[in-house]
Amino acid sequence: MIDKYGRHVTYVRLSITDRCDFRCTYCMAEEMTFLPRQEVMSLEESLQVAQAFVSLGVSKLRLTGGEPLVRKNVMWLIERLGALPGLENLVLTTNGSQLDRFAAPLKAAGVKRLNISLDTLKAERFQAITRIGDLSKVLRGIEAATAAGFQRTKLNTVMMRGTNDDEFVDLVRFAVEHQLDISFIEEMPLGEIHGRSKTYISSEETREMIGRHYELIPSTESSGGPARYWRIPGSESRIGFISPHSHNFCDSCNRVRVTAKGELYPCLGQNDALSLLPVMRANGDEAALRQAIVDSMGIKPFGHDFTQQMNNPQVVRFMSMTGG
Ligand code: GTP
Ligand code: 5AD
Ligand code: SF4
Repeated sequence: MIDKYGRHVTYVRLSITDRCDFRCTYCMAEEMTFLPRQEVMSLEESLQVAQAFVSLGVSKLRLTGGEPLVRKNVMWLIERLGALPGLENLVLTTNGSQLDRFAAPLKAAGVKRLNISLDTLKAERFQAITRIGDLSKVLRGIEAATAAGFQRTKLNTVMMRGTNDDEFVDLVRFAVEHQLDISFIEEMPLGEIHGRSKTYISSEETREMIGRHYELIPSTESSGGPARYWRIPGSESRIGFISPHSHNFCDSCNRVRVTAKGELYPCLGQNDALSLLPVMRANGDEAALRQAIVDSMGIKPFGHDFTQQMNNPQVVRFMSMTGG
């Protein structure tokens, strides 16, 4: 599939629930309510969407949430996706809270790689950022992922001045010691969140901070995603920076995302969407679903226009709707 700007779309981020067992301050409002069950795609419908994308040439699928592993019977879907011919790269982004029990079955089902959110190594701070999360469970989850045979697991750290900026070097050390990759992410203003961290930190500033402790060598590697990577001599770990504000990567965007409600958002940073669920529920016709997906290429905007005005977001939906 090629959009009107000539970009090839080969990657889908499929959210399978808007629910989460955490309430990260940058992702959800405190008083968040979740979608009623009948509005959420069934697992069969999620599979149908994935099959349609793969039949149109998509080779990489990332499951997201909310937290994907809190979805009931999630392994039913993952096992089928793992066996889907043409789907070369099945990956998952998780908060890590359920990984101690899911890591081994995910590996067995054919999930290739995990991205795990980790903003701090301090238990109390973790609780403050996630509002209800337990750091020790996540650390156990990270260990379980490695024990299950996952390699190059990636940690995601959202950079927040005054909240976790004193830990970036410690987080890099943790990644290096555990042979993990780590990406530092500039916070994006999605959804109106009271008290969203006001002080933006650029990737550049963080890289300089880390550079005072570790030699960082720019790497030309790319996962085809938004991160730009650096390496530390003598370590396999990649240190990535996702910089929607300071280094826009929209011109090489290769992805679209589908929410748990079955809405296809061609861009994370815009409100344009096309709803797949009515198409599926009206006639269950595979051709109609494929046509709707192809049509979405015509509405893929050139890119986001996030500003650092974090308290006045242009995109009203929360990050937990699209899973990033
Ligand atoms: P790969 O590209 O598959 O390696 O992973 P990723 O790093 O993009 O995925 P992950 O789910 O770990 O997301 C990390 C961060 O990247 C999150 O904050 C996402 O919101 C952000 N992100 C992913 N895709 C896009 C995008 O198209 N645009 C923007 N602005 N941010 C994105
Ligand atoms: N800005 C940047 N990244 C965010 N994430 C969640 N909300 C935001 C935000 N507002 C990250 C999470 C997770 C990934 C899917 O998106 O930390 O790792
Ligand atoms: Fe849950 Fe991830 Fe959002 Fe945190 S960032 S509330 S873990 S979906």
